[in-house]
Amino acid sequence: MSKPSFPDEIEFRGLNTPIRTESSVRNLAVEGVIPADIRGAFFRSVPDPAHPPMTAGHTLLSADGMVAKFLFTEGPDGTTAVDHDLRYVQTARYQAEQKARRSLFGRYRNPFTDDPAAAGVDRTVANTTPVFHGGYLLATKEDGRPYRVNPHTLETYGSWDYAGKLKSETMTAHVRVDPVTGEMFSFGYEATGLCSKTMSYFIVDKDGQLQSEQFFDAPYCGMVHDMGLTERHVVFPVFPTTADLDRLKAGGPHWVHEQNTPCWVGIMPRYGKVEEMRWFPGPPGSSAYHLMNCFDEGDMVHMDFCWSDTNGFPFIREDSGIHKSMQEIQGGLLRWSFNLADPAPNLAVRGLGPPGDLPRIVDADHGRPYTRGWYITVDPQAGPPIPAGPVNAACNLLLRVEPPTGRIDALPLGAGWAFNEPQHVPAKDPAHGGWLLVVVDQQVGEDDFKHALWVLEADAIGKGPIAKVALPFRLRQQVHGWWVPQAALEAAK
Ligand SMILES: [Fe+2]
Repeated sequence: MSKPSFPDEIEFRGLNTPIRTESSVRNLAVEGVIPADIRGAFFRSVPDPAHPPMTAGHTLLSADGMVAKFLFTEGPDGTTAVDHDLRYVQTARYQAEQKARRSLFGRYRNPFTDDPAAAGVDRTVANTTPVFHGGYLLATKEDGRPYRVNPHTLETYGSWDYAGKLKSETMTAHVRVDPVTGEMFSFGYEATGLCSKTMSYFIVDKDGQLQSEQFFDAPYCGMVHDMGLTERHVVFPVFPTTADLDRLKAGGPHWVHEQNTPCWVGIMPRYGKVEEMRWFPGPPGSSAYHLMNCFDEGDMVHMDFCWSDTNGFPFIREDSGIHKSMQEIQGGLLRWSFNLADPAPNLAVRGLGPPGDLPRIVDADHGRPYTRGWYITVDPQAGPPIPAGPVNAACNLLLRVEPPTGRIDALPLGAGWAFNEPQHVPAKDPAHGGWLLVVVDQQVGEDDFKHALWVLEADAIGKGPIAKVALPFRLRQQVHGWWVPQAALEAAK
């Protein structure tokens, strides 16, 4: 392990220790029985810094993208065999630094702090979500265009612009795929350059062909990490974590959270023109990274998301002069509802669940009224969480919520354990609620961890895992994942 050459800081210790190892393992040890419903690939983005940082002001968000793949196939004896592959995304940045054998890129999303040798090189690390759509696997990060990766071998093809059609300089890591039409609804912010408030909105058909792209201005250049999709609308929440070009030129941070600035939610018909966008103001200082789901109800548009009263990342609060500990932050899974029939600004707020993040739903429920979702959080009963990730606290409590009924179920792991983002896999039996795949980290020594993939019954998480797949090596924490059924994987381009 490379630890001695990395700074002795929390970003590079414990669960955050750089592993920097590409690997392929066949026939992982399986405890219990993996249901035959689970055939296909669970792709995950697992960032891992290939080199120690060249400047202060680095964050975990700068770590080089790796794509991990759990492949579930039917073994010779009829049981499920599980293989695991882990490869770096060969971004231009990764390749340039491999050649130099050191970091060339400075502060997070600030090219003015780079080594001159990095000039003109695409800065994205493609480390956030492995998006699989239209037969293409794309390693995404919101600060650039995605990188196309071979879903069978995890080899990188290169930067991807939809065969020259995409004009946006950026693409979100949180695209939304309509489960009925198969279309992908996507966007970019800072779409025409660093700190531009121009956003792109584009639609890709089910075969991976770009069909339309439009540009519009957000109220300001703020972080837009996720979007919402309903059967009739698209939703763009803009929160006041803002970027400023002069600050970047002075060597400062990309993001500062403005506690007194309102957030805005833009809503437009999903097949409409951006001129039809209507902007609704929301509470100043609000912050959110992830939406659970959105849906229409008559003239209402509902947005269910993980809200907090300030930015959740300690490094951004520090750069913003906001002195609040994680325990002092207010938050929750909220439903914000907007009445499009009312010409005046309006917003109705309803609580759906406790604070947390990394929400998931059944893929077929996207954009529709839905009955259940899952997310993870830090258990206030369990003592201090393992320091990890950009929030400096690993989640050790898995929640299942039923927004229509208010029912909440939980799977607590306690101190010394951590959940990564769960992934739902449907069952063939329509009466069965399907399965959750989730990688679990367990602390087994002062600086030692074990990792396993757990299979849970999605509607009975409290029972604990019905199967466990042990990994015989250290893993970094995942950001987001994507499930690809076997037939779609075999048909991949
Ligand atoms: Fe995200």
